[in-house]
Amino acid sequence: MKSSRTCAADRSRRQHARKELMSKKRYAQVGLGGRSRMYLKGVVAGYAETSEMVALCDLNKGRLQLALENARSWGGDPKGYPARDFDRMIAETQPDTVIVTTKDCYHDDYIVRAMELGCDVITEKPMTTDAQKAQRIIDAQRETGQQCRVTFNYRYSPPRTQVKALLMTGVIGNILSLDFHWLLDIRHGADYFRRWHRNKENSGGLMVHKATHHFDLVNWWLSTVPEAVLAQGHRRFYTPQTADRYGLQERTERCLTCPETKCRFRLDIESIDGLKRLYRDNEVYDGYFRDRCVFSDLIDIEDTMNVLVNYANGTKMSYSLNAFMPWEGYIVSFNGTRGRLEHKTVESSYISADGSVPGQTLERGTYIRVIPHFGPAYDVDIWTSKGGHGGGDRHILEDLFGAAPPEDPYLRAADQRGGAYSILTGVAANQSMATGQLVRIDDLVQNIGMPDYPPMPTDNEPLSFEIPDPIHIEQPTS
Ligand SMILES: NC(=O)c1ccc[n+]([C@@H]2O[C@H](COP(=O)([O-])OP(=O)(O)OC[C@H]3O[C@@H](n4cnc5c(N)ncnc54)[C@H](O)[C@@H]3O)[C@@H](O)[C@H]2O)c1
Repeated sequence: MKSSRTCAADRSRRQHARKELMSKKRYAQVGLGGRSRMYLKGVVAGYAETSEMVALCDLNKGRLQLALENARSWGGDPKGYPARDFDRMIAETQPDTVIVTTKDCYHDDYIVRAMELGCDVITEKPMTTDAQKAQRIIDAQRETGQQCRVTFNYRYSPPRTQVKALLMTGVIGNILSLDFHWLLDIRHGADYFRRWHRNKENSGGLMVHKATHHFDLVNWWLSTVPEAVLAQGHRRFYTPQTADRYGLQERTERCLTCPETKCRFRLDIESIDGLKRLYRDNEVYDGYFRDRCVFSDLIDIEDTMNVLVNYANGTKMSYSLNAFMPWEGYIVSFNGTRGRLEHKTVESSYISADGSVPGQTLERGTYIRVIPHFGPAYDVDIWTSKGGHGGGDRHILEDLFGAAPPEDPYLRAADQRGGAYSILTGVAANQSMATGQLVRIDDLVQNIGMPDYPPMPTDNEPLSFEIPDPIHIEQPTS
């Protein structure tokens, strides 16, 4: 009989041999701006044991070059391709999976083409920007049978996962309605009005580009999908009239050339190294200005939006998004048959790709409160989160690229079905804002299929007059 030491040595030899045998997954990435770095560094440096970045692709020659240099400095050696050579890139470098991090309006082109060429896809949110493009993706996925993963990092933020965990226990029963209010502040919120996001043809507006996160959270928190949407909205803060009221009479197209140096919305693109290297230094290739005036009359997205949603399980939501707030974060309240759960998060303020960690949860001001029927209200200990987007970024990277990601009772990994339903509330809201009519989701995209969500409490379960003990769920270690 072998000693325990010999057995352990055998096991470690076998594990080592298995690792050697395990072939790495090959990735190509298209779209190499601010968000791309998380995936590129993740694959090249963080998860080199399981993953290899074999190719990079962008419309902008300068950003392609910068990404290649970064990849090499992190130990990778991908090949670079211009966007027009996407097909050649796939043929020559044979990736298993294409990571799509371009401007939103081009996601569908790359998702569909990658699947047609036999690749799986990992795409950033929003999966796409309108109903026709969503239908294209749904159809192409069904025809090709390839996997299409949509990276909803917000689901992986520990406090948001904790809300899901609490709702699943039935602590407030089944949920009949919710109020959800998201606040974008005058730094991060204003930033959408400087960049390509300011036009609906690029981003679908904030109802799609930004609220896709929030509407996805609701679909997943409730394990249901939207059925009908009514919305109203306007842009009344980021306007020339507001600039006039601030006394900014001499505005120009962009901050770089603007004489209004007193403007508190001014972005000095040359003084922030990350922004200079990514955008300012590469304007020569595509003429894209990252610092356009937030008060321009060329903007066509809303800054103020109110939405009513009816869900397939009967839940009703009232939602708002305001992009000119003095603080950043959200307040959501779930109204259930056994009580109410209130959750507030305050996030750090930032400007996209300025080198800071984006959207960190701030401990002060963040809470989850349970208010049971017949019992006293209490706060639960918040699951801790570190890093970008409420701590979601590091957890989703592990789930995407880790050697053995743990089983997930919350089913946070989303595909094209969750991707489609997350944008369709916003697509319907855009339509409703334009027409004043109620918009039915079924009229927008067909044959999506029901996303995989965990089971939730239903209205068949018995209720009780007993005062429940405070609930505590241990934070998972990974
Ligand atoms: N999940 C999150 O928290 C999160 C955060 C930020 C951004 N995002 C998403 O990531 C994506 C990229 O956003 P970003 O902030 O990096 O924007 P960005 O403007 O910094 O980068 C976009 C990149 O795509 C390239 N590009 C544009 N059109 C292209 C085309 N047709 N073919 C190839 N390349 C093209 C641009 O040259 C640029 O390098 C967006 O879809 C955005 O919604 C997600």
